[in-house]
Parts: sequence; C-alpha cells; structure tokens
Amino acid sequence: MTTSVIRGMGVCLPERIVTNDDLARQLQTSDSWIRSRTGIRFRRWADPGTSTGDLATAAGVAALNSANTDADFVVLATTTPDRPCPATGPEVARRIGLTDVPAVDIAAVCSGFIYGLTMAASLISSGVCSRPLVIGAEVYSSIIDPEDRQTAVIFGDGAGAVLLQQGSIEQPGAIQAINLGSDGSRSDFIEIAAGGSRNPHRDGMTTRKDRYFRMQGRRVFAQAVQRMTSSCHLTLERVHWSPASIGVFISHQANQRIIDAVGDRLGIDPHRRFGNIADVGNTAAASLPLAMAATADRQLAEPGARTLLTAFGGGLTWGSVALNWPDVRPIYRSASRQDRAPDPSHAAGTPLMPATMPGAVSPLT
Ligand code: ACO
Repeated sequence: MTTSVIRGMGVCLPERIVTNDDLARQLQTSDSWIRSRTGIRFRRWADPGTSTGDLATAAGVAALNSANTDADFVVLATTTPDRPCPATGPEVARRIGLTDVPAVDIAAVCSGFIYGLTMAASLISSGVCSRPLVIGAEVYSSIIDPEDRQTAVIFGDGAGAVLLQQGSIEQPGAIQAINLGSDGSRSDFIEIAAGGSRNPHRDGMTTRKDRYFRMQGRRVFAQAVQRMTSSCHLTLERVHWSPASIGVFISHQANQRIIDAVGDRLGIDPHRRFGNIADVGNTAAASLPLAMAATADRQLAEPGARTLLTAFGGGLTWGSVALNWPDVRPIYRSASRQDRAPDPSHAAGTPLMPATMPGAVSPLT
C-alpha cells in the first residue's frame, strides 16, 4: 500500500533572541510569570525588513537539500503573508528556484501545517504532483500588539518545511491517518479585526488595536485542549494505535500547559512527548515542523516509531496526523539577504548554518 512519506526537513529561525526579561522591560510581566504560565524562555523575532517569505524561502531550500531533490508543488501555511494580496507561496517558489511550479498559501492559523500536509498528501494521491514542499512560516512579531502582554509574550517567528514523496506505508515518514476539523462559530476567539472585506482599513474607521492579532486566552486554552484531545482520539482509532504505543507525540507548541493537558488526557508517556516551546515560543503554522526538526536533529526518536502530531488554531481549526517517525536529517539555514535570489548553492546542498540549533530540545517531562 502506498502513501505520502516525509523525505526531508528544513528550518529557518531568525537570529535575534528575545528573552522574557527583554519583554518585562516594556510590559507589565516577568520572566517567572511567562515561564510558569506558558513554559517559554525565549522566542526569535525577525529583524524589521525580514518577511515570512524570507524565512519560508530559506526553510524550503533547506528541506530540499535535506531530501536531496527538488519540488513540483509549494504549499505555504501562514497567518502572516508578505502582503494581503497576492499569496506569498508563488514568490517563495520562484526564489527557491522552482520555476513555474504551482504554489499557494493556506490560512488555517496554527493548524496550517497539518492542513498543508493533508493537502500535499492529497495532491500526491490524486496524481497532481509527486514532490510537494510544505512550509509553515510566520513573522508573528509583525502582527503582535506590543502593548498586549497576553500575546506579546507567547508568539515567535520562524519557518519549517518538509518535502513529501510517494512511498510505502511501512516506511519511516509514512503518513497513516489524518483528522481535521473547524468551528467557525468561534471565529472571534482569535482574530485580526480589520484589514479584510468585512472591516477594511479606511481612514478613521479602524483603530490601532483592530490591526493587531488578538486572542481570548482562556477560551482558546479550553478549546485547544478539548479539540486536540478529541482529534487525537479519532486519529488513533483509525490506525488502531493505543496511546501507550506512541513513540513520538508532538503537539502544536501553543503553551506548555496546553501541551501537558493534551498529553495527560491522552495518557501518553511524558518521556515520549517532544517540543521546543521553551526556546522558540508559539510560532503558529511553523510550530510543528520546527518541533519535529528539533526532535530529529537531536535524534530523540527512532525512525519508524509511531508518531502523533496535533495542532489547534484560529478559525477555529484543528487536526491530527498519525505517521511513522521519518528518517531524515534536518538542515538549518539563515534568512540572509543572499537568499533573496534563486540560490545556486541549493543544487550543491550546502547549508548556510550548521545542522544544529542553539538551545536545548528535550522530552517535555
Ligand atoms: N504577564 C503577567 N500577567 C499576565 C500576563 C503576562 N504576560 N498575561 C496575562 N496576565 C494576567 C492577567 O491580566 C490576569 O490577571 P488578573 O487575574 O488580575 O485579571 C492573570 O494574569 C490571569 O490571566 P489569564 O488570561 O487567566 O491567564 P492564563 O493563565 O490563561 O494565561 C495565556 C494567559 C498564556 C494567554 C493563556 O490563556 C493561553 O495560553 N491561552 C491559549 C493561547 C494559545 O494556545 N494559543 C494557540 C492558538 S493561537 C493561534 O491559533 C494563533
């Protein structure tokens, strides 16, 4: 039996590290509040002028280097496209050097990577393409209200990408089952109120706050735990895997307390839960591929191990994927200016950064 298989992984993180103490100098907050309520120690914020497309291009090139192939479709999951129109995906494809390949953005906020993975796997099974590149990329620092301590402390910037190809269902990296869902009746739990057709930017009509991302934290928290837990149950039922048999559990890196609550409710061994929220914060659509790459980079999981990924985000949207842990070596790449043009070093497979990430990644025990 054939399915889609993860063959390569790439990462791009901005170089600027923002500590909790840095934020506490501008906001009424503290390192101890942020650590105890979210589990976050640091996040990366892009320098002004660096866009989601810059990070996505670097992560995409790195994933292709990791897979040692090119791509024939680009799916970019993001909440923070370079512009409202057009989509950022086609420009990213061009900058990677993928001339004339189909490319599209998808908007499912923090669930975007799982929706993107689903779309890419479906494109393979329908014969539309054979090597789709799925990128989750965000520059949340561009939409965060610097005066909102509830969101400013949580979100970070970054990009992660995977390359899919057709393969056998027994292989490392093989996708086994997917569950997705949405609930538009709670669309106001996570939103940017202005800038769309319902409430366009017009002089005097929108406030400064309307232009920023905002979130009803407690309500989002409850929904995130409930939706990710039930989605995981549905996915596990489809593949007949018990929670005790899961070798790798990676949740959207929303908040350490949410991650713990979902893992506890599912009954997953704490030593089998992996993530990197402490070092990168909540990077929305980039969160899952960044946590996967960090886990793979540290060789914390056996290729082929039963793996469960889950995510939840604005919309509301959520989803889960069961797969075999891939046998890949992630490549890390910086979003330096030289990535702005199609990069000849791509073919040579030369990473700009070493394939290790500063900051510890460990089982979340
Ligand atoms: N520093 C200090 N105090 C704070 C901060 C802060 N950064 N933020 C909130 N507080 C205060 C509040 O004002 C409140 O004070 P009060 O009791 O005097 O009114 C108190 O802390 C408790 O506030 P809560 O909102 O109940 O705090 P909570 O423990 O819920 O933590 C948080 C807030 C971290 C935002 C949490 O609700 C959360 O993580 N929500 C979910 C976020 C998430 O997962 N998002 C993922 C999806 S996002 C997406 O899709 C893009």
